[in-house]
Amino acid sequence: PLFVLMKTGVSLGVMTLLQLLKQMKKIFSFFQYKDKEEVVLWMNTVGPYHNRQETYKYFSLPFCAGSKKTISHYHETLGEALQGVELEFSGLDIKFKDEVMQTTYCEIDLDKAKRDAFVYAIKNHYWYQMYIDDLPIWGIVGEADENGEDHYLWTYKKLEIGFNGNRIVDVNLTSEGKVRLIPNTRIGMSYSVKWKRSDVKFEDRFDKYLDPSFFQHRIHWFSIFNSFMMVIFLVGLVSMILMRTLRKDYARYSKEEEMDDMDRDLGDEYGWKQVHGDVFRPSSHPLIFSSLIGSGCQIFSVSLIVIIVAMVEDLYTERGSMLSTAIFVYAATSPVNGYFGGSLYAKQGGRRWIKQMFIGAFMIPAMVCGTAFFINFIAIYYHASRAIPFGTMVAVCCICFFVILPLNLVGTILGRNLSGQPNFPCRVNAVPRPIPEKKWFMEPAVIVCLGGILPFGSIFIEMYVLHLHVFLDYRCGCGFPGLRSCSYVSCFFLWCFRMYGLFQTSFYFGYMAVFSTALGIMCGAVGYMGTSAFVRKIYTNVKID
Ligand SMILES: *[C@@H]1O[C@H](CO)[C@@H](O)[C@H](O)[C@H]1NC(C)=O
Repeated sequence: PLFVLMKTGVSLGVMTLLQLLKQMKKIFSFFQYKDKEEVVLWMNTVGPYHNRQETYKYFSLPFCAGSKKTISHYHETLGEALQGVELEFSGLDIKFKDEVMQTTYCEIDLDKAKRDAFVYAIKNHYWYQMYIDDLPIWGIVGEADENGEDHYLWTYKKLEIGFNGNRIVDVNLTSEGKVRLIPNTRIGMSYSVKWKRSDVKFEDRFDKYLDPSFFQHRIHWFSIFNSFMMVIFLVGLVSMILMRTLRKDYARYSKEEEMDDMDRDLGDEYGWKQVHGDVFRPSSHPLIFSSLIGSGCQIFSVSLIVIIVAMVEDLYTERGSMLSTAIFVYAATSPVNGYFGGSLYAKQGGRRWIKQMFIGAFMIPAMVCGTAFFINFIAIYYHASRAIPFGTMVAVCCICFFVILPLNLVGTILGRNLSGQPNFPCRVNAVPRPIPEKKWFMEPAVIVCLGGILPFGSIFIEMYVLHLHVFLDYRCGCGFPGLRSCSYVSCFFLWCFRMYGLFQTSFYFGYMAVFSTALGIMCGAVGYMGTSAFVRKIYTNVKID
């Protein structure tokens, strides 16, 4: 009967999931336009062409915005927020397939201060970036003449938008209308929009940006290579030290065994052998511990699969598709969580396995949903349009209860039955051995911080260069890079992104906290798995009396 129940549960789960995925695909696909539907031109940043890391808000230069103030849909995705993209509405009135002749949308009253700002920007070759329907557009602010005395501002943005069916697939911007900057004049800013039928497929619309000459790939290949070498070097170093020490220890232990019982100094063991009665002692909170390890294993498999899928399929092209893939993979890998969490809990002698299963299954979803709920709350307070739709929330809850939980149950039962025996190579003493006084740098808190430095060092450059989300590097030893990435993220936020306001702040910090915690749990689990295999190995090879 249990088997039948499981089978029904799984098939029910898969069916629900398919339904929900279809639903989600609908919710996530914003990209189709009806004729005359509003198309929003977002202004992003402005900054010197030769230093692309240095960016300012577009409206930090005294540009003026169009007269349109309201927009029907605000879009911001997690990816954008993580990138620190801070979009502001341009105020231009653009409608799908609706041609606009050259129209003046606003005028700049050029006083001395404004002129100086523009001249400074032109001298430093400032360029700006905009977005239309997620497609980036770049334009130059202005131009100086040969002897560098007169400065001109480009005032006319000529937009040519290519569409294929009811989607936007291509955008070109031409800057025209050079106007000399003379103090105390008025400068009219204008735009025009032309719509062209295009053969570019929607899936391929980002391809023109992936042209290697377009982005300079050199830096991040170098840094990836760099951290790769660093990881190899560290692994080599650590394993060499461990091997030498172990060989020496084994030699000494076996020499001792050959000695007479009389000669041997009984009870005076040394080195790692002396803790053999304690190494396999269950943790003090087996329930939480095994749930964390199970979740960590699941996150690890999810990141692996999503990275592979993202490499095989171009997930970056469609907004939200990465997220929905991640949710799907997360639900599908629930048995991994149940298996590792359940078997570890059984090994540690835990009895309340149902409670463990619930905690393990809902730890991560609760964390993510809790944060999302909190941010949603603020979103509703600030811009109602940014809130997560109710349908999505219900969908996520359904996935938790009807897919994740049953699959987790399957995993837990398998884990408890297949590898739930505490088959440790040596017995655990009844009385714990007292832990001697430690130096300050051996305290857990200090170790946690120090342990994160190396893995953090190797992901630092990627995080900086690749803006946190394309090539995320999940490589780590053990320890808590999560904590590190958390503090890094804070610095990053404060120094690089220049985001202001409660909403931006909580949005960014909330999701980055989730990200850092997940990274920490994952690395902790990988570290624990590695260490426990190692410890088990070295104690199997030594004779304990
Ligand atoms: C944009 O420019 C490219 C290259 O000049 C051209 O192939 C493409 O058709 C243009 N697209 C639109 C919509 O005008």
